[in-house]
Amino acid sequence: MSDLDAMIAAAREVMGRAYAPYSRFQVGACLRSESGQIYAACNVENAAYPQGQCAEASAIGMMVAAGDRRIAEVVVMGGGEGDGGLCTPCGGCRQRLREFAAPDTRIHVCGPEGLRRSFTLDELLPASFGPENLGF
Ligand code: THU
Repeated sequence: MSDLDAMIAAAREVMGRAYAPYSRFQVGACLRSESGQIYAACNVENAAYPQGQCAEASAIGMMVAAGDRRIAEVVVMGGGEGDGGLCTPCGGCRQRLREFAAPDTRIHVCGPEGLRRSFTLDELLPASFGPENLGF
């Protein structure tokens, strides 16, 4: 199984465990770090709506807690069809990914059936602000 297939399978598994009673929109995200580890997590909503957390944010937290710092590849999986059929990362999550990824890092947008479309981070967040702006 390729890295990407393994990531898609992991995203599908955690998507099914998403806690999304309010939106009923389940999302799974899987990160592969440069060290080769895979971190998969889902969205976690809250009755106090703004306290909900996106799947990508959950996965980034797992990666950092494990001691990893660089993202090599990303899978984001959500449902939807037609015009709403691409579960691209929200604006906040594009910025969160940007902290730990490179402009050419690939973000694979998937549905439960598999890959729908791939982007680079730079395509999703051009001319972005990042650690370099602060001298890091
Ligand atoms: N959601 C994610 O988890 N990731 C995204 O990139 C898009 C949106 C979640 C947040 C919320 O729980 C639900 O999808 C509907 O917005």
